[in-house]
This record gives sequence, structure tokens and C-alpha cells, in this order.
Amino acid sequence: MARIALVTGGMGGIGTAICQKLADAGHTVVTTYSRPGKEVQWLADQKEKGYTFHAYECDVTDFDACQTMAARVLAEVGPVDVLVNNAGITRDTTFRKMSKIDWDAVISTNLDSLFNITKPFVDGMTDRGFGRVINISSINGQKGQFGQTNYSAAKAGMHGFTKALAQEVARKGVTVNTVSPGYIATEMVMAVKEEIRQAIISGIPVNRLGMPEEVADLITFLAGNQAGFITGSNIAINGGQHMF
Ligand code: CAA
Repeated sequence: MARIALVTGGMGGIGTAICQKLADAGHTVVTTYSRPGKEVQWLADQKEKGYTFHAYECDVTDFDACQTMAARVLAEVGPVDVLVNNAGITRDTTFRKMSKIDWDAVISTNLDSLFNITKPFVDGMTDRGFGRVINISSINGQKGQFGQTNYSAAKAGMHGFTKALAQEVARKGVTVNTVSPGYIATEMVMAVKEEIRQAIISGIPVNRLGMPEEVADLITFLAGNQAGFITGSNIAINGGQHMF
């Protein structure tokens, strides 16, 4: 069934693929972006590929901005039944060198955003008796990563949020899940130094980076009616890099 889906940070590597796959499945797709200006080219590129998306500026670290964005989406597009909390950043450095600014930026963007964005949409989902909240975490929230105390903490925290909220809304037809991608071929991963990246890839049993489309296919499945019995899960998609 076609629904309205909102993807935060939908203009990044994984985000773009999620927007496209959700649209391919028939959903109306809304995305948010934080850096004004970027959306013009992105929307034009997507149009060229046959996709028409709605885009709203929203700083996911700003609670009030998220409320305002959600009200505008409701009025201008309609009720959101599928929410993909995808926006995220890295500020990689060893803990000893990490500044308070690096810590705060990652915690507020990757973890506080779950409160800020989910809050204005979840009541509508429970009222209507259907909803999908999909939180994009990371392999590094599951196993930890050298140079990512901030990111690993935020990503692990996301799944705590998932498990608690999943219990609260399960009876109302709303599922809440975490998806934890491993190393996917995106700008974020390409920003890791070549030799470190190569060492990481050599530790991935399938011996390659994942593709954004592979993650997006999983999200699209979770967004559908067929995934109604999956809730509170943390689904790994990492090429076998971390098995548990
Ligand atoms: N385990 C143990 N020791 C390690 C190590 C590791 N994984 N990596 C580096 N070291 C050692 C080095 O050998 C070096 O030792 P010496 O001082 O004895 O030479 C020391 O630690 C390096 O310390 P530095 O403070 O000099 O570190 P650096 O500034 O060179 O690099 C870093 C630090 C930038 C965090 C770098 O380690 C790095 O890029 N790590 C990868 C981080 C990563 O995987 N990020 C993922 C980004 S993508 C993403 O996050 C998406 C997703 O969800 C998967």
C-alpha cells in the first residue's frame, strides 16, 4: 500500500537510495536536509532520474525546527506513516583527542534527533493504527570502533530507543526497528583514510563494501505491510563483518 514516507538526511549516500527505493515501491517520499542550497541540485538530479520528492529544510538537532517541519509536512503533503531516521554524521578521532564539540555534534545529530523527529510523528501513527519507524544505526553501534566513541555511543543508543518505543506502540500497529549497516560505499566511508579503509574491507567476509541500494531494499521491506511482525529488532547488514 502506498504511503507517505519521511527520510531524514535523504540527500546523502544511503538516504538517496532509500528515497528512491521507497518511491519505487509506490510511496510518496519527503526528505529533510540541513544545508540549504544542496537541495536544488539534488532535486534536479532526482527529477532527471524520474523521481519527484518533497524536500524540507530541518536541523534535526533543533526540537522546535522539527515540530515546525512536521506541521508543514502534515499540511502540505499529508500524514507520515513511515519514518526513516537516517540523518547522521561522523567526527572521528581518538577519545583522547576528541573535543566536547565533536562529542556534542555527533550525539545531538545522531541520537537527540530521534526524540526531535519521532516525537511529532508518532501520535499520528498510533491514532491511525499503522506506522513504521526505522532507525538507521551502524555496525559500529554494535561492535564499537576505534576513533568513534561519540558515534558508537550514539548508534548504540539508537537501538535502546528502538527497543523501548517498540514496546510502547506495538499494540497500535506501529513497528520500530533498527537497521545497522556495515561499511557502505558512500562519501562518509570514502572519507576514511585509504589504508584504513582497505584494512576494514579486508575484514569483511564478502570482501567488498555494501551498496546503498542493498540497505534501501531492506528499509523498503521493513516499511511495508509484510513486515508487521518485525519490531524491536536490530537488523545487521554488514557483509558478515560482525556476527552475533
Ligand atoms: N585498533 C588499534 N589501534 C589502532 C587502530 C585500531 N583499529 N587504528 C589505529 N590504531 C593505532 C595506530 O596504529 C596508531 O598507533 P601508534 O600511535 O602506535 O602509531 C594510533 O592508533 C593512531 O593514533 P592517532 O591518534 O594518531 O590516530 P589517527 O589520528 O591516525 O587516526 C582515526 C584516528 C582518524 C580515528 C583513524 O583511526 C580512523 O579513521 N579510524 C577509522 C574510523 C572509522 O572506521 N570510521 C568509520 C567512518 S564511516 C561510518 O561511520 C559509517 C558506518 O556506520 C560504518
